[in-house]
Amino acid sequence: MAKEAEILTMRGIVKSYQMGDELQVILKGINLSVQRGEFISILGPSGSGKSTMMNIIGCLDSPSDGEYWLSGKRIADMNDKELAKIRGREIGFVFQQFQLLPRLTAVQNVELPLIYAGVSQAERNKKALEMLDRVGLTNKIRNYPNQLSGGQQQRVAIARALVNNPTILLADEPTGALDQNTGEQVMGLFRELHAEGRTIVMITHDHNIAKNASRIVQILDGNLTEG
Ligand SMILES: Nc1ncnc2c1ncn2[C@@H]1O[C@H](COP(=O)(O)OP(=O)(O)OP(=O)(O)O)[C@@H](O)[C@H]1O
Ligand SMILES: [Mg+2]
Repeated sequence: MAKEAEILTMRGIVKSYQMGDELQVILKGINLSVQRGEFISILGPSGSGKSTMMNIIGCLDSPSDGEYWLSGKRIADMNDKELAKIRGREIGFVFQQFQLLPRLTAVQNVELPLIYAGVSQAERNKKALEMLDRVGLTNKIRNYPNQLSGGQQQRVAIARALVNNPTILLADEPTGALDQNTGEQVMGLFRELHAEGRTIVMITHDHNIAKNASRIVQILDGNLTEG
């Protein structure tokens, strides 16, 4: 069983794909525990299995073998509907390419997860504005994504990820599309969120970005090592 303070526990996670007559093992028995309030980086080169792992952490994909608990719940016991629900409640996703909806303004993008959660219009607007204020974008709430800089778009995406108050902020290469300066600003925001008690799991191939976290684990060829 997973321990109480652990928000995320993986035991012997394997992910493999049958490619023709060859079984390709991408994750080779991953063990990982993340405590509430930790800011952890998963660092590894291209092709090492980072996104594969992120998809399992985010309940977007299921492992071939092993056990995964999120907030004390065993993921293997859940059906698709329950998985969608836990994903919406527990995980705030941030991606390399922001993935904002182009026809919605900043504030409308941030409101989206609240629509899915059935929150009233007035409450949605209030929460979205609070979140945009938190990421320093009060003066850009009515801008469309193509009227925002890359760093601003990523901050909208972070506001959207956090507006539901998820248990984990899960980010895959969140600075991958940003120049160094802008990436550093986004990392400053992550460090602040961590200081406020957020649990953050960040995936990156960049050691300098990984160093923003309070703990680094390395993934190499489907194996995880601490430090
Ligand atoms: N659906 C799939 N079928 C077969 N192989 C896959 C599939 N998805 C991923 N892989 C393989 O798994 C390995 C790890 O891929 P993954 O996307 O997790 O790497 P990554 O560490 O995120 O790399 P990058 O830094 O380039 O994003 C790769 O060799 C890839 O070819
Ligand atoms: Mg990847």
